[in-house]
Amino acid sequence: MTPSPATAAVRVRRAELSDLDDLVALEQATFDSDRVSRAQFRRHLDSDSARVLVASANRRRFLGTALVFFRKGSRVARLYSIASLPEARGKGVGTALVDAAEAAARQRRCQALRLEVRTDNANAIRLYEGLGYRRIGSVAKGFYEDGSDAFRYEKTLA
Ligand SMILES: CC(C)(COP(=O)(O)OP(=O)(O)OC[C@H]1O[C@@H](n2cnc3c(N)ncnc32)[C@H](O)[C@@H]1OP(=O)(O)O)[C@@H](O)C(=O)NCCC(=O)NCCS
Repeated sequence: MTPSPATAAVRVRRAELSDLDDLVALEQATFDSDRVSRAQFRRHLDSDSARVLVASANRRRFLGTALVFFRKGSRVARLYSIASLPEARGKGVGTALVDAAEAAARQRRCQALRLEVRTDNANAIRLYEGLGYRRIGSVAKGFYEDGSDAFRYEKTLA
């Protein structure tokens, strides 16, 4: 299938210091709990065990972000967080970010990417399942700071 022009225009790059304001603003606008703070983003930018990704398009420098964690000695990477700007949703930004997270994990020789998602987050679940993520284990009760439950998903990376 030929990608739509909007999808084709989405690029993903590593986050830089100059993205901090956008990262924090999107985090605050998107999540009510379990937020990544400015200081944490700042540390993740330089960390070997994290990769902060930013989606952009021709005229838009910042459309969304994903945060991936790696652990020394582990072949499993974790997609900790993903969000696109509300006005940019449904245009392939999330897909491009997950693709880039998988590429970063492969680059680190990880064999799988895992993630948690709120059991009531239908949009995110559609995104992950559409990209080949499989639910693993049972529901993680009270996983989030606000007490909500999570599904865990995993994709084996070829
Ligand atoms: C989940 C999220 C990152 C998806 O980003 P996005 O930029 O909309 O993703 P895409 O445009 O690539 O959409 C991918 C798929 O997700 C699903 N999806 C995305 N938005 C949707 C919507 N509004 N309604 C229904 N399905 C939706 C669809 O299956 C879509 O595939 P399709 O376009 O082929 O039907 C975005 O909705 C978001 O930021 N949500 C708030 C934060 C969040 O919940 N993050 C995940 C938990 S950490």
